[in-house]
Amino acid sequence: MSFPFGVDYYPEHWPEARWATDAQMMQEIGVNTVRLAEFAWSRLEPREGRFDFGWLDRAVDLLAQHDIRVILGTPTASAPPWLMNKDETLFLVREDGVRLSYGHRREYCPSHPIYHEHTKTIVTAMAEHYRDNPNVIGWQIDNEFGDRCYCTICRERFQVWLGDKYGTLATLNDAWGTVFWSHVYNDWSEIPIPLSTAPSHNPGLALDFKRFASDVYVRYQKLQLDILREVSPGHFITHNFMGFRFDQLNYFELARDLDLVTWDNYPRGFWNMQEHVNPSEIALGHATMRGLKGKNFWMMEQQSGPGGWDIVSVTPRPGELRLWAYQAIAHGADGMIFFRWRTARFGAEEYWHGLLNHDGTPGRRFDELKQMGLELKRVGDDVLGSTVNAEVAFLLDYDTRFAFQVQANNPQFSYPEHFATIYGAFHRLNVPVDIVPPDADLSRYKLVLAPALYVLPKGLVERLEAFTKAGGTLLTTLRSGVKDETNAVVDLPLPGLLAELCGVTVQDYDSLPEGVSQGLEFTNEVTPVGEAQADMWCDILTPQGAEVVARYTANFYRGQAAVTCNRAGDGQAVYVGTAGNRALYDTLAPWLLRLAEVSTRADTQDGLEVTERTRGNERLRFILNHSDEEQRVTAWGHDLLTDAAVEGEVSLAPKGVLVVQVRETSA
Ligand code: GLA
Ligand code: ZN
Repeated sequence: MSFPFGVDYYPEHWPEARWATDAQMMQEIGVNTVRLAEFAWSRLEPREGRFDFGWLDRAVDLLAQHDIRVILGTPTASAPPWLMNKDETLFLVREDGVRLSYGHRREYCPSHPIYHEHTKTIVTAMAEHYRDNPNVIGWQIDNEFGDRCYCTICRERFQVWLGDKYGTLATLNDAWGTVFWSHVYNDWSEIPIPLSTAPSHNPGLALDFKRFASDVYVRYQKLQLDILREVSPGHFITHNFMGFRFDQLNYFELARDLDLVTWDNYPRGFWNMQEHVNPSEIALGHATMRGLKGKNFWMMEQQSGPGGWDIVSVTPRPGELRLWAYQAIAHGADGMIFFRWRTARFGAEEYWHGLLNHDGTPGRRFDELKQMGLELKRVGDDVLGSTVNAEVAFLLDYDTRFAFQVQANNPQFSYPEHFATIYGAFHRLNVPVDIVPPDADLSRYKLVLAPALYVLPKGLVERLEAFTKAGGTLLTTLRSGVKDETNAVVDLPLPGLLAELCGVTVQDYDSLPEGVSQGLEFTNEVTPVGEAQADMWCDILTPQGAEVVARYTANFYRGQAAVTCNRAGDGQAVYVGTAGNRALYDTLAPWLLRLAEVSTRADTQDGLEVTERTRGNERLRFILNHSDEEQRVTAWGHDLLTDAAVEGEVSLAPKGVLVVQVRETSA
């Protein structure tokens, strides 16, 4: 199989007379894979029970004639009016109690039995129709699973879910501490869904609801998955995820049942009107998506032009589209599908730009991605089969993430932001990183970063202990070990179950107002990089065997420990009692890497990202110039894209990409 390269295509948006031109142009730029139909329900089933696959058959056949294979999307993210008009309760209810109405997409209640019935019908019909079509290679289920529903059907499902989880109301009442404010439930049907009409819900209930709401989509996906597996075997099944930032679903659980993770990457969307894009933010998205199944992923929607609904985003700079696409490959993408082929002339996304302009003409964006398509045609086989190898892991915990959504602890604190800040320091040092779930096997890593492990089950503590004692280096930060799995505060000195491993207790803490920070003074081992600060939160630490690494410099806790390091077995556990700014992690990262004996790259340069994919002992080094300046880089080996030798220093244009097959002798 050649490297999958292609576009999201909506033949239903264009006159059929144009399709042949599209297919021809696609083939010319190296397109071999296209996603179709994920929003085409009203064309596939125009009236209830009446199906029309003719147009889609013709599109699939035409693409086949141009050697283009197809991934079909099940169209359930956007239902036709004939379905949604059946019953008002089909619409999702938002957290504020408002029921959605028709006019956008993703408006359905994911628990609704009528929606489930119609889902089964359309998915079965599509699967039966396309199961034997040799040109269909895979399925995408729905599109970007999304928001939590707070309707009464979901409330009943939640009550049943709780019954399965707790067995008896006595257990549930005890777990949630419902004695507080007289919330003791005598009947399952009394349990509410946590609408935002109450300013703060019981934290136990609120966390369980978020777990449930994630489960609802996992189950809804499973409903489709089971049909596709049974009716249409031999096809891969995926869903298009939304990277690191999307935080309503437990993505590890959503990914578990799928064959493949794919995701939608828009560094310049209309929500981000910044002139500069932060490469580490994108890299974190890729690392997270690779982490969901611990294997390579595909891009299902890679940005191909300015994004826009009502507002048009900053246009991607020349070279950026190609650069970001290679960045995805550098981080483990094994398929590259751009959103979208041609810019729509109508509908909510008139300003979401594709490779082609509104009028169907090619321009700068088309030329740039054509270059890439032709490159991948030549070198794709040298890339496939390789992957990223990391000695450093970041532990991403959705229970913790959801629990911080319930109680932020400090108004400025955000778990994903904190996570991304720490990740950024390692990304700037070009250290390969895996993002792993709490139940991952940690033994293959030297350094594990587990920021703010707020909800901490015993099993995880045991794994972290085993990892550390066997010689690993662990970092954890503020608010770790505060909660048990029921989202109640532990009956232990903080950091709770981690106190012993970290050799430290939190004697007091201070939640800081916005704009107020604390200086930090480091011991000799650590060389400060920039102005490291304690922000948002200060745990005032009493070492119980740990060594002090940094102290606060102001306030009543001036001179007291802020960062500690404890030897445990053959390894060490570092506790950082604050959220901290970027400089804090730029300071700690090189020190942690030294402690953990992770080798770092010598050629770290601002604006330059360097990553490697390996296949056996072959190494493929991606050198990506995210900056606006030409950069000098050093490499020895074979430049895949130009098919020329690289011997030492070469210059790399702004937004330029170098993919070097590295000779073993080189650094
Ligand atoms: C998402 C969706 C696409 C499209 C793009 C652009 O990622 O999956 O259907 O809406 O965004 O908005
Ligand atoms: Zn609902």
